[in-house]
Amino acid sequence: MKQILNLILVHISHPSDNHALMVLKSEEKLPEILPGQFVEVRVDNSPTTLLRRPISINYVDKVNNEIWLLVHAVGEGTKRLCSLKEGALVNCILPLGRGFTLPECGEKVLLIGGGVGTAPLLYLGELARSIGAYPKFLLGGKTSADVLQKEDFRRIGELYITTEDGSEGEKGFVTNHSVLSAGEFSRIYTCGPKPMMMAVARYAKEKAIFCEASLENMMACGLGACLCCVEKTSEGNLCVCTEGPVFNINKLMW
Ligand code: FES
Repeated sequence: MKQILNLILVHISHPSDNHALMVLKSEEKLPEILPGQFVEVRVDNSPTTLLRRPISINYVDKVNNEIWLLVHAVGEGTKRLCSLKEGALVNCILPLGRGFTLPECGEKVLLIGGGVGTAPLLYLGELARSIGAYPKFLLGGKTSADVLQKEDFRRIGELYITTEDGSEGEKGFVTNHSVLSAGEFSRIYTCGPKPMMMAVARYAKEKAIFCEASLENMMACGLGACLCCVEKTSEGNLCVCTEGPVFNINKLMW
């Protein structure tokens, strides 16, 4: 059930020059949140930014009633969010969209991410581990500094890295990583740039592995009203913000 909440920014850090990790606390009990769901964040005090910004939920800390958002500063709105100070009130609509399907106890699962698309995989990995599955992470970036939250991922499962310049892990793209040749996974989850997810989807189809992808289509309203996020699927054109962002790859026309 989605809610509009004013969350308190209790901590903000900057894991890179153009990213901020915001820890937001709720005074009311947070609603149930599935990994892969997102929030629409209002950007206050901006004459040019009228629309909320969709940000995927990076982590849910149930003990402290907090959510983490990893924000990539790409435009006016997200730059403003990244420059907020601790103590600020952040107005959010959450949780939105459909999340990932959780694995069964004992399943070996691979979570593949690139860029800021790694964000929802942290909470997904944590939940997968908590129900007895075995998550491994395969994260890619242009260079080592692009792969964020490495220690947080390592606390949950094994972490494999690819970088295009070879500065960390294996050189190349995630779909060339040697962990894929073992192919001992019953599920793959992916989020990141579309070409990367399409390559992961091809691999999963070839191996007949269950695979879900979280799409990063441009969004505006986040509520199914503006139709700017539509994706062509086997069931027709669907709004990514309400029918996704997570889709089984067999539904996508990739
Ligand atoms: Fe408006 Fe999806 S963002 S319909």
